[in-house]
Amino acid sequence: MGIAGVGRDNLRAVAVDGDFAMRPDDLRRQMVADRAAGLLPFFVVATIGTTSSTALDPIRAIGEVCREFGVWLHVDGAMAGTAALCPEFRHIQDGLELADSYAFNPHKWMFTNFDCDCLWVADRAALIRALSILPEYLKNAATAAGAVIDYRDWHVQLGRRFRALKLWFVIRHYGVEGLRAHVREHVRLGQQFAAWVAADPAFELAAPAPLNLVCFRLREGGDEANRALLERLNASGKLYLTHTVLDGRYTLRMSIGGTLTEERHVLAAWKEITHEE
Ligand SMILES: Cc1ncc(COP(=O)(O)O)c(C=O)c1O
Repeated sequence: MGIAGVGRDNLRAVAVDGDFAMRPDDLRRQMVADRAAGLLPFFVVATIGTTSSTALDPIRAIGEVCREFGVWLHVDGAMAGTAALCPEFRHIQDGLELADSYAFNPHKWMFTNFDCDCLWVADRAALIRALSILPEYLKNAATAAGAVIDYRDWHVQLGRRFRALKLWFVIRHYGVEGLRAHVREHVRLGQQFAAWVAADPAFELAAPAPLNLVCFRLREGGDEANRALLERLNASGKLYLTHTVLDGRYTLRMSIGGTLTEERHVLAAWKEITHEE
């Protein structure tokens, strides 16, 4: 919003449900209100796995609202989007055919070195129209004949690294079954960790854990106790957790997606988390 010059005061946060997922009814309500106020909503971002909690926005219902209002829908699949490699997790993308663009990060959960983001657009012409520049010194026969795709026209800068190459090697190395095996194992470990949290009376789950990210906290001691726990864990040098705030409360985040992470690491982490409680 800042880069496009739209201004943060024109940015709308849409209400979320009890699972922290976007509420399509509130999206619709805000669009109607903005239209009535003479404003023109034009862009919606929904998320398949929000950063904080992996909340999965209902893409189909959001997409239908966007179609109704003629608004561009971008779906951000950051980390969780990788799960869609596995047929059994592909439901997270339900309604994605209503999106105008979609992105996910192989650098987060597809064993690819930082940085690597995959971007898909339904109609590349719209993107190219907005971003293409063709000064004299860039003109060439291949471009003029439409024989090549000039990816420089797909993003803001002109220069471009060849990130697709390393992703190609990752895909060749693991194969689709290898990638799926890792994703499935990480989800299994995430669910295992969530079960340990749920079974321990000192802890609670702070949000649904649909995949490989588990948000949890100590029941007692409030934010102070949880902050102290995070600091102790990270200072131990044995594991590294990040935190967020959910429902106004400090929350720890366990994310399982490292190439070499195994069950023994997750178990060791849980022991480290619980040993002083
Ligand atoms: C939902 C979401 N979108 C996008 C990003 C950032 O993606 P990139 O590294 O491609 O800018 C993150 C990273 O934390 C994220 O959680």
